Amino acid sequence: MLYSEKVLDHFSNPRNVGEIEDADGVGEVGNAKCGDIMKMYLKIDKGVISDVKFKTYGCGAAVATSSMATELIKGKPVEDALKLTNAAVVEALDGLPQVKIHCSVLAEQAIKSALSDYYTRQGIDPLPIVGEIKEPEE
Ligand code: FES
Repeated sequence: MLYSEKVLDHFSNPRNVGEIEDADGVGEVGNAKCGDIMKMYLKIDKGVISDVKFKTYGCGAAVATSSMATELIKGKPVEDALKLTNAAVVEALDGLPQVKIHCSVLAEQAIKSALSDYYTRQGIDPLPIVGEIKEPEE
């Protein structure tokens, strides 16, 4: 089987799909090679991610990794979301085929992009906290 059961589950039944109208941070990243786009919305209350939603024009692996990524950061402090790596998301999904690893980077970077927006809105320079947002290149 190419995909783990968890990947298939999150792909066919993705969690946290949608938008948050009064989001505290919104991020969008794209993958130049495949053209897929990921949008991430965060609601943050007292430093905790109280809600998160995503929308994507992306492949199945992008849907599954974003779904898992939102589950991993929901209800967690912002610091935890800042530390979330695509490797951790892939591990939580019991792995992804090598050619699909770049799709998981889209989810990670969309969260970082939304956190950058969150800090910018508060007049805080996000670069030292969040780092640079990279577009996946593979
Ligand atoms: Fe583009 Fe997966 S092929 S994100």
